[in-house]
Amino acid sequence: MSSLPLTTRCDRTPAWAELQSHYAAAGQSFDLRRAFASDAQRFNDFSQQAPHVFADLSKNLIDMPTQSLLLALAEQCGVAAHRDAMFAGLPINNTEQRAVMHFLLRQPAAAVSTNASHAEPVWQEALQQVHETLGAMLAYAEQVRTDEAITDIVNIGIGGSDLGPQMAVRALDAFCQPGKRFHFVSNVDGHELARVLAGLQPRNTLFLIASKTFTTAETMTNAQSARHWFETRMGEGASAHIARHFAALTTNVQAAQAFGIRTTFGFWDWVGGRYSLMSAIGLPLAIAVGAQGFGDMLAGAHAMDEHFKTAALANNLPVRLGLLDVWYRNFHGFTSRSIAPYHSALGRLPAYLQQLEMESNGKRVDRDGQALPYGTSPVLWGEPGTNGQHAYFQMLHQGSDVVPVEFVAVKTARHDLPGHHAKLLANALAQAQAFMVGQPEPGGHRDFPGNRPSTFLVLDDLTPASLGALIALQEHRVFVSGSVWGINSFDQWGVELGKVLATDIEVRLGNGDTASLDGSTAGLLNKLRSSA
Ligand code: F6P
Repeated sequence: MSSLPLTTRCDRTPAWAELQSHYAAAGQSFDLRRAFASDAQRFNDFSQQAPHVFADLSKNLIDMPTQSLLLALAEQCGVAAHRDAMFAGLPINNTEQRAVMHFLLRQPAAAVSTNASHAEPVWQEALQQVHETLGAMLAYAEQVRTDEAITDIVNIGIGGSDLGPQMAVRALDAFCQPGKRFHFVSNVDGHELARVLAGLQPRNTLFLIASKTFTTAETMTNAQSARHWFETRMGEGASAHIARHFAALTTNVQAAQAFGIRTTFGFWDWVGGRYSLMSAIGLPLAIAVGAQGFGDMLAGAHAMDEHFKTAALANNLPVRLGLLDVWYRNFHGFTSRSIAPYHSALGRLPAYLQQLEMESNGKRVDRDGQALPYGTSPVLWGEPGTNGQHAYFQMLHQGSDVVPVEFVAVKTARHDLPGHHAKLLANALAQAQAFMVGQPEPGGHRDFPGNRPSTFLVLDDLTPASLGALIALQEHRVFVSGSVWGINSFDQWGVELGKVLATDIEVRLGNGDTASLDGSTAGLLNKLRSSA
């Protein structure tokens, strides 16, 4: 296997220094209103159509010189070489020595023969396995869809084994099989599982235990409780029914079998948890929208993969978005980005993107473990519009910090209630306009400074294909900023410490032992024990 591409740390490139000078000379005083007034072409120059997603970047704090310097930065940091290394199946997740190949999950099977001579051996074999598993999983999904006795599907999983399928099932509600209800249980807080179980009948329920590792404490605890609930209610011979009512989605098929689950759909260590929606982890979605719908989502994502792989950097939407993220984080010093989907079915998109961005790029060391002197992941947050307007948009318009906003609007409505959709779209456009134009009234409470940046993404329709493309777009933009920052976007060591400490504290909560604990943890532990 060939070695990973050499990269230069971004702050040591000539482009970085030039961007600093450009920021000082022009970037920090850039004014969107002046930019539009002096350039009739600005919308055309800073917008583009990518597969299924149109993007207007013109209301961002950039001009042509900024864009050229950012593209030079990408070149000097080796973003394209890093991207090609990912698509070649090299182990770019260097801390775990793993390839990063979620793009293979949506690679058409025909590529096995047509690209075989160019692909790494690991890639070809993996693609074959992808299609074998996909076929089995979609056949199972179709079987569940036609099984009228199964009315409730409960996905038990957390993080990437929950957020993706939950977001997508809700997003594609208009395509979902009538007569099936989907429930997502992630939290170890028993209130969540208890509330879901209270409305279920075991004979009508299918539990999907979704865990890449099949060791995650929350998921294992919920899975055990679900099995206990099932066995108790089914009574004698319950274990014979487990095969029909439990399936596991995991890379650790052995552990799932040891748990007593016979129906398993596997995936591979080269699929990161937060990149796993299009693997077996997507089974709830496959049941909801069927093989056709799931296949359409894969096709949409694949189209975006091809765009990312082949479009020139200047017209490459994931590249342009990722570079904007770098410009805002490292030169303007903005620490967060807000996502505002103007479609209620995209209600879980912010939570999904939050894990994607923050677990991928929330790192303070480079790929070799050396501390970095610059900021990385922004805080990602948001709510669907128009709800957010009546909650936190005040801060976005008049707060002391500038927060770039990313709007997602969908041209077509899938309901026939008159007037609603025009109002929804009008609000999205008006908010983006208000952020930019403002309403200067210096010194007053009514002063809207304006010049606040936003990106506006448009989908013609919210379909499996456009959702797949939107997801792949976001995956790749996170890849681009992570590449520039020189970090490994595909590990997540930062989640480990808390897991270890929780195991120790759980024992102490039982026995009251506070020896060697810090004063605060010991005090709180006593408080929680005494009120238990
Ligand atoms: O807590 C971090 C994490 O490992 C995420 O990266 C992952 O998506 C989630 O936990 C769930 O992990 P698993 O699918 O192995 O249960």
